[in-house]
Amino acid sequence: MVTIAVTREAADEPRVAVSPETVKKFSALGAKVRVESGAGLRSRFSDDAYKAAGADVVSHADALGGADILLKVRRPSEDEIKALKPGAIVAAMIDPYGDRAALDSLAATGASIFSMEFIPRTTRAQSMDVLSSQANLAGYKAVVDAASMFGQALPMMSTAAGPIPAARAFIMGVGVAGLQAIATARRLGAIVTATDVRPATKEQVLSLNAKFVAVEDDEFKQAQTAAGYAKPMSPEYQAKQAELVANHIKIQDMVITTALIPGRPAPKLITRAMVESMKAGAIIIDLAAERGGNCELTEPGKTIETPNGVKISSPLNLAGTIAVNSSSLYAKNLLAFIDLMIDKKEKTLAVNWDDDIIKGTLVAKGGAIVHPNLAPKSP
Ligand code: NAI
Repeated sequence: MVTIAVTREAADEPRVAVSPETVKKFSALGAKVRVESGAGLRSRFSDDAYKAAGADVVSHADALGGADILLKVRRPSEDEIKALKPGAIVAAMIDPYGDRAALDSLAATGASIFSMEFIPRTTRAQSMDVLSSQANLAGYKAVVDAASMFGQALPMMSTAAGPIPAARAFIMGVGVAGLQAIATARRLGAIVTATDVRPATKEQVLSLNAKFVAVEDDEFKQAQTAAGYAKPMSPEYQAKQAELVANHIKIQDMVITTALIPGRPAPKLITRAMVESMKAGAIIIDLAAERGGNCELTEPGKTIETPNGVKISSPLNLAGTIAVNSSSLYAKNLLAFIDLMIDKKEKTLAVNWDDDIIKGTLVAKGGAIVHPNLAPKSP
């Protein structure tokens, strides 16, 4: 029988890698899940709920000892991996471009380590796509938080005492998080505009009844890579984009920024001068904070208020603030991924190392880093 270990995350990570629902499904696949006591509490999954679903709820050491698979939200520690069966499977959001020395040490344990951030964006892998499942919730929560910080109503209201105008929300970057931010701001009644450098986003913005604002020149028409991501834009394009944004941002009540380019620092889209031109009471939520932020004044992890009364919030783990939902979806992503590796008839591990999803996410195996994106750079 395949044994799966799940341990508690660090203090700053409220999510957990399995839910009672996925424990039940793992059991049906012929696996035994061992959950560290209390691991699900911050996602409102009690030890009893895990037990009822068929998990063994045990101590940290007993969860790990000799397990075939370790599932985590964040990078596990070296000690955790060493407690597993030699060459065990580890799947987590390991932050593949973060602290390389520490990643090398994890690789040296000999475990097969998978980075859930590298799940390919293909139709077959859609149910395993953790970036999408978590970004979608972050986009939603960003708007809800902005609305709560705003201190004014969002929808246009006609009342006997007179009308209330609708608030204006501007969404910068229309990937998964941006699309959900647009939909949420629309539901709350705001007048919504959005910008992106990928032409494919224009139709998506319009279909959500928001207005598209962007510099639509020749460079814009080629800004999408084959993988569906944005390219870094030229200084000329960035200057034109900045001029457009400068004029538009002055009248906004809330701005949600989500712009990212894979493997690079976040593009700076909002300058200090733009913030200074904004209205007192306006809110900026910078979802690109983990990669430095889209606003020049962003202080990752903090909420600041500028002298002209603009609040800039840059949460580092927004999905984690709705852990019930984000853990449930993350757990389902992991279930779909691990399902690929289990022989249901024999109830044993059977990894097809040639599968494109397995190959695309495998970061370390046999003691070495093996992912092409993480190959040492030639001098
Ligand atoms: P992301 O998190 O990498 O970036 C967010 C957004 O920022 C992107 O839309 C990007 O174009 C935009 N951006 C980058 N530089 C910008 C700039 N200078 N100004 C304005 N916007 C800028 O993107 P995410 O959310 O990961 O989605 C990337 C693409 O992958 C999307 O097309 C999405 O629909 C697609 N996707 C496909 C899936 C599938 O086929 N299974 C699953 C999930 C996403």
